[in-house]
Amino acid sequence: MKQRVLLTGGAGYIGSHTYVALVEAGYDVLILDNFSNAARDVPKRLAKITGHEAVVVEANVLDRASLDRVFAEQKIDAVIHFAAFKSVGESVRKPLAYMQNNVVGLVNLMQAMDNAGVRRLVFSSSATVYGEAVELPTPETAPLSYGNPYGYSKLVCEQIIEQTVASDRGWTVGVLRYFNPVGAHPSGLIGEDPSGIPDNLMPYVAKVAAGELPILSVFGNDYPTPDGTGVRDYIHVVDLARGHVQSLAALERDGQGHVVNLGTGRGYSVLELIATYARASNRDIPYKIAPRRDGDAAASYADPSLAKKVLGFEAQYDLFDMCRTSWVWMQNSAETAE
Ligand code: UFG
Repeated sequence: MKQRVLLTGGAGYIGSHTYVALVEAGYDVLILDNFSNAARDVPKRLAKITGHEAVVVEANVLDRASLDRVFAEQKIDAVIHFAAFKSVGESVRKPLAYMQNNVVGLVNLMQAMDNAGVRRLVFSSSATVYGEAVELPTPETAPLSYGNPYGYSKLVCEQIIEQTVASDRGWTVGVLRYFNPVGAHPSGLIGEDPSGIPDNLMPYVAKVAAGELPILSVFGNDYPTPDGTGVRDYIHVVDLARGHVQSLAALERDGQGHVVNLGTGRGYSVLELIATYARASNRDIPYKIAPRRDGDAAASYADPSLAKKVLGFEAQYDLFDMCRTSWVWMQNSAETAE
């Protein structure tokens, strides 16, 4: 019988790509989303990619009654929890909203799961839990810290999970620490929501390449990195999505949890990313050097060896693939918006 997986935040950027990967791997998938940061037409787009209608429950993870109803009405074998706020800058302005949505949301979900006897969970964490990394490449054993309320919320969530697993009620949990997810599905039908002015580098570059924003500011060129600009471990969202399928399979197979990095292990600088995007899009990307952004680290990249050992996970796509699929999505989403 097919395993049934509930994806909270399944209509969002990483959730939607994971939906496709799970359906392709033969899982039966149910999306729970309140569409606070996802487009309404994502389920239709998912149906186009997979050839099957997407089943969606519109609900907020803070609404315990709705969660209980879902678990009472549906047979669910496991949950992947994406639904959360994710903007560092916004978290500094609204720390309580981040604690409520990210921390209370997780507690609520785990209580509903526990009640229903569903104790297999994959949790969407972030390399932000390493704070300013003291070890490069960063292994999972590196010290944990936080630099903003968003990072704090992810760290607290990881600790809540750790203590719940230790309570010995039969929980198996996979904690996935994402590095910098970018790119889009090769169909060009799903990607990162293009509305508003992006905070993150690749969506900003995409808009500059498309002429929607005039120029990119490169935040600092005096870091101790080869070209002076910030270095990050960009990972294709399609690779990242497959990491979730492999995490779920490892939980089923091993009967025990894991905490792993999902990255490529290779860092690229801001200038390298700009040059690669220019090549992939065949557009000029005007940029200027601006002051460093508060709280930014010089470099961040994963030691990906544990994910390979425990999940059999290895990223396959390179930076050019990430830029190319981002560009296809950028053009497609601009067309659909017109
Ligand atoms: N950058 C620019 N110009 C921009 C935007 C970013 O030069 O307009 C630079 C940054 O200084 C950094 C790099 O591009 O060197 C990447 O910045 P992003 O904002 O794309 O990503 P971050 O590494 O800062 O943040 C990401 C996620 C966070 C997460 C963090 C650590 O967005 O959610 O990784 O894991 F907390």
